[in-house]
Amino acid sequence: MERKKVTLPDLMRKKEQGIPLTMLTAYDYPLAQAVDNAGMDLILVGDSYGMVVLGHNSTVPVTMEQMLTACQAVARGARYSFLVGDMPFMSYQADVAEAVRNAGRFIKEANMDAVKLEGGRAVAATARAITNAGIPVMGHIGLTPQSVSQLGGYRTQGTTAAAARELVDDALALQAAGCFAVVLEKVPDRVAAYITKRLHIPTIGIGAGAQTDGQVLVIHDMLGLFDRFLPKFVKQYAQLHGVIAQALREYKTDVETHAFPAPEHSFAIKESEWETFIQSADDHSTDVPRAFVDEHADATRVY
Ligand code: KIV
Repeated sequence: MERKKVTLPDLMRKKEQGIPLTMLTAYDYPLAQAVDNAGMDLILVGDSYGMVVLGHNSTVPVTMEQMLTACQAVARGARYSFLVGDMPFMSYQADVAEAVRNAGRFIKEANMDAVKLEGGRAVAATARAITNAGIPVMGHIGLTPQSVSQLGGYRTQGTTAAAARELVDDALALQAAGCFAVVLEKVPDRVAAYITKRLHIPTIGIGAGAQTDGQVLVIHDMLGLFDRFLPKFVKQYAQLHGVIAQALREYKTDVETHAFPAPEHSFAIKESEWETFIQSADDHSTDVPRAFVDEHADATRVY
């Protein structure tokens, strides 16, 4: 069947039919291409970019311009997945009008299909203003890394009856504000399952158990490309750090032993041009010994 670009109705239909939604992060052209080719429903250009690519200790320092550059690269690599750009810290918290303008930049300048913002009832009015501007919004509650100081670290959220109740109210507020989906990060599986049943929009879990409508992971975590720490909720599908380290060791050895570049990686000059060149070089310089000329007279030809 011919593949088509994923749309919002496709995502809703999957929830209704109980078909799990698949989402991964990507931050650049090659990985966006890989995720898109693998048939993922959604690609999130997450502000985790700040940690797994830029090397910051949290997502807080990431700027609008950095996010837009990453989103532009992803949009060049992905043809079919539904693309969500993560609004960075302080791009939507201070002022609703500024939030709408910044959300608009993800669509106009970076070819995203939607934006994501963190928070529940506190950002519901902002989410409403952005959806009123015609921009789909994905919510994100539970562990919200942009508020890591306020939350007291990267702890599981909604672990008491009262906190679970707050999460349900946040999810309902985001749905009422017009969000098309909500990410539930690091919340107990039964709380996530309850919220998923209460909402008519899809939930996407990360560390939220198996009963959400979809799953998302940070691609550098699941491919073994980020070695600073590995959250318990990540399943690692590859260990690319090891693969890369081995390749780099081989390259270093090849260069040091003259095994690379081989003739097939080299380019040649035509014999007649070479002869003319050497004659003229001989006219002007005595630095190149005749032995060098003879040795290179039979170089491999690759045009
Ligand atoms: O920034 C990100 O990658 C995210 C996911 C963890 C949901 O927000």
